[in-house]
Parts: sequence; C-alpha cells; structure tokens
Amino acid sequence: MEFNIKSGHPEKQRTACVVVGVYEPRRLSEVARQIDEVSHGYLSSILRRGDLEGKIGQTLLLHNVPGTLADRILLVGGGRERELGDYQYRKVIAQAIRTLHDTGSMEAVCYLTELNVRGRDTAWRIRQAIETAQATLYNFDQLKSKKDVCRRPLRKIVFSVATRRDLTIAEQASREAQAIALAVKLTKDLANLPSNICTPSYLAEQAKALCNLHEKLTCKVLNESHLEKQGFNAMLAVAKGSEQPPRLIVLEYRAGKKNDNPIVLIGKGVTFDSGGISLKPAKDMDEMKYDMCGAASVLGALSAAVELQLPLNLVAIIPAVENLPSGKATKPGDIVTSLSGQTVEILNTDAEGRLILADALTYAERYKPAVVIDIATLTGACVIALGKPAHGLMCNHNPLTNELLNAGRFSGDRAWELPLWDDYQDQLDSRFADMANISNNREAGAILGACFLSRFAKKFHWAHLDIAGTAWITGKEKGATGRPVPLLTQFLIDRSRDDTMIAPLSPTTAISSPLPFDPSEDKRADEENKELPSAELPSAEGEK
Ligand code: BES
Ligand code: MN
Ligand code: ZN
Repeated sequence: MEFNIKSGHPEKQRTACVVVGVYEPRRLSEVARQIDEVSHGYLSSILRRGDLEGKIGQTLLLHNVPGTLADRILLVGGGRERELGDYQYRKVIAQAIRTLHDTGSMEAVCYLTELNVRGRDTAWRIRQAIETAQATLYNFDQLKSKKDVCRRPLRKIVFSVATRRDLTIAEQASREAQAIALAVKLTKDLANLPSNICTPSYLAEQAKALCNLHEKLTCKVLNESHLEKQGFNAMLAVAKGSEQPPRLIVLEYRAGKKNDNPIVLIGKGVTFDSGGISLKPAKDMDEMKYDMCGAASVLGALSAAVELQLPLNLVAIIPAVENLPSGKATKPGDIVTSLSGQTVEILNTDAEGRLILADALTYAERYKPAVVIDIATLTGACVIALGKPAHGLMCNHNPLTNELLNAGRFSGDRAWELPLWDDYQDQLDSRFADMANISNNREAGAILGACFLSRFAKKFHWAHLDIAGTAWITGKEKGATGRPVPLLTQFLIDRSRDDTMIAPLSPTTAISSPLPFDPSEDKRADEENKELPSAELPSAEGEK
C-alpha cells in the first residue's frame, strides 16, 4: 500500500473517495462542514434525516456529492468529540480503511487525521493512521491454496494535515510509521508460520537473508557443536528432546559511533513449546508455535532501525530451539551448568524460555551493552495478571523502566511494570543446585520468571518484556499482533535522537569496526574468535 501526506481542501480532491468524520450526535467535523458548505447543506440534510448518528465505527458512503470532485464521500462516525482518545481513533481509522477496501475505492484522501484526538498532535495522528491502516489490511494467506482476491483493493491513501506548516513533521511521522508497519508485518509473517516450517534453522536462514539486504548488518549463527563447546548447557537442555538442532542467531547493526556501547535485544525463539517431558495439555497447544514471537519481534525492530537508518549500535541475539519430549529429552530434576557457571535444577521442563534466555543474557555480556532488553512469551501467569492490552515489564534500572513505559505510551504499544523485588528471589532456592527454574507454588509466576532471568543480568542495565498475553490473539481471528515492535522501535528512535542531540553524527563515523568488546576479558569469546570470523567481517558464517 502506498501512503502520502497532503494539505488541501476536501471539495477539490479528484479521487475515488474523500473520507471525513462525523461526531456523535450528528455533528459535522470541521472538514465535513467545509463539504457541507460547498454542497449547500447536503451532508447536514442527510444527518437530519437520521442516516448517521456518528457513533464510533458507523459509516455512510455517499456518491456524487454536489460541489465536490471526488466520486464518493465516506462519512465515518467518530463518537463524542470529547471522548475521542487513542483507542477510539484507531477504531475509527480501521473502520474507514475496511470500508474503503470493501467498496471499490482503490485510492482515497482521508481527513480523519484532522480529528481532535485528546492530547495527541499531528505527527502522532499520522503515525497511528498509517500503522493502523497497514494492520487492518494484513492477511496471512501464504499457506492457503486459494487466496481471497479483492477485485478493487485499496492501493493508495493520502492522509491530510490541516496546514502546509505541518507537512515536514507529518512526512517524518509517515516515514517512521511505514518502517514500523513493515517491521510489524515481517514479525507477524514469521510468527504465523507453523512450527514445521519455522524451525530454529529456518529462523537462522531468515536472519541471514535480512543481513544480505543491508550493508550495515552482519549475522553469525552458532550451531549445536559451537554451543556445546562454549557451554550453553541451559539452552542445550531445552533443545535435547527435539530432532531440530538449536541455533544461536546473532545480528549486529553498526551505524552508531565506534565506541558507543550497543543496545542488545534478546528474543525468545522457541519455535514450538510442547512443554517437553512436563507436557502441556492438548487444548490450544497449536498456539505454542507463537513461542518464538520474541525472536520475531527482535528481527522486526532491527529491520525498522535499519530502514530508518538510526545512528545506533544494535545487537540482536536469538536463542532458537524446539521444546519436545523424547527419550533424549531433559527430565524434571536434571541439573545443568549454565553458560554463566551457575547451576540450575530443571524442575519443570515447560519453564524452558528462562533457560535459553539465561545463556543468551550471559552471552550478551561480551558486548559491554549500554542496555539489554529481552522479549519473551515467558509466562501464562503474565496473561492472567495483565491480559491482552499490556506487556509485563520488569527491569533492574528505573530510568530504563521509564524510557520503555514512555515508548509504549507514545507508540500505542503499552507495557505495565511489575515488581522485581529481592523479596521474591528465595522462592527459586533449590535443594541441589544454585537455583531451580520454577518456584514450588503458583504465586507471582510472571515475576518469578523475571527473577530467574535477573540472576543472569547482573552486569548491565536490563529490562524484561513478558509478551505472553500481547504477542498474538486467540479465537476466530487468531494471529500474531507484531507487538512489541512499535514499542521497541520507538525506544530506539528516542535513543538515537538523544544521541544526535549530544553529538551530531558526521559522515566519517561510518562504522566498520567491531563493537566494544575486549576478548582478553573472556576466554570463551577468544576461542570463538578463532572459530568464527569476528564481528568486523561481513556476515560471519557459523554453520555449514
Ligand atoms: N511459552 C510458555 C508461556 C505461555 C503459556 C505463553 C501460555 C502464552 C500462553 C512458557 O514456556 C511456559 O510454559 N511457562 C510456564 C512456566 C511455569 C512452568 C513456571 C507457564 O506459564 O505455565
Ligand atoms: Mn514452556
Ligand atoms: Zn515457552
């Protein structure tokens, strides 16, 4: 879909459809009033007859409205003006887009971006409109043999801003929105694939393909023997029961200053979570193909950063495994030594996400990260606590908590903080190892998951996003949401802005050197550098 920004009179638009808002009860928006004037009261006479009340999501399609140049005018209900908030605005936009798509308008000029949304400016309204439009038309039909074809699909939409002065800001917003929308689509597509296609090696291939598209991206993949040699035993314990070999996928994007410590994003990549020997019940188990949504969202956020050419150093780490039962699988009570050296008693093989993330967090240390954020469909308990609207956020550094909460508020992809107090930690005590991977009761499950991870995140500022409730929707409309790509991308945009404000990037700072990381400090890293071409080489190959 093509998006454009424009400022101009609604009656002068020569297009298939002009979209304007009507507030409840039967109150024309400012733009609708302009059309009403040139048409000598055509719209108000229709409203008086009772054809449209203006409730959220109501629509009325009019043809050949006097005094206008468009084929059609689409009136869309915006609800009560004073009650128009973020949630209502997105609903209004989605309804408009759906109607346009279904009624044969292949292009349209939409004035809904001029509605008064409580506390939101032009840039925000453009951002949300484009992201919502793209999300509304998303359809995953790769695996249907017969696709639903729309005879006259919506191809191009122009969003309006009130004055020419708004154009520059709106165009920047439009660029950001399109990068995010594309990244959300990439994330949804990967997540919606079934686990017989989307395996750990498939994820690795996709990561490599992404790298091949962009010069500033490099990718390396550690395979099973690398992982064994280096001691990723917590991760390997999860992969053991499956015929699918594990992969540790590492992508690096270097567009920041040479010595800037990178932001590290870690995404849980369990391509299918059966629970292992602690087998899950059959009902809805198909949805555990979504247990790699953290990984998919990290790839999405990275691709948005690249698309927007954000001046940042960024590392994405994806531990990818399949969790299945078999004769070789890890059993409850088994004890492993994680990459950090800490031992873990695996009391429940279904608490596998924290095991693979533990080793990925330890691996992140070698990058001397500015911050590490892990994204994971970690606990059913988080879904119980917060439901679908909010990601669970647990963090060991207050300023980082605030940055992420704010990025969520602005992008409409919100998180909510849960406590990560020491008071919870002793529930992970183990009789036989340094810690257990679960507690012995069902209290505070989301927090306990984070407490476990925090033991591997002592050396840096770290945040954990539990996206178990937000990454996909269940039921008839089942599908990935692409969250938290908007939150993560906003966080990266905000970070890159701060940076440019302090010291503007000069063109000569184009980076081709490795990220800050001192091999002398880490023996494992040193070994790895011998085997695997290091970060400075393009597309380091770890397998084949
Ligand atoms: N991937 C699941 C979490 C999950 C469950 C996400 C349902 C979304 C919907 C995770 O690996 C898991 O199984 N967690 C267990 C942890 C428990 C054994 C401590 C859970 O939440 O039941
Ligand atoms: Mn599990
Ligand atoms: Zn899982």
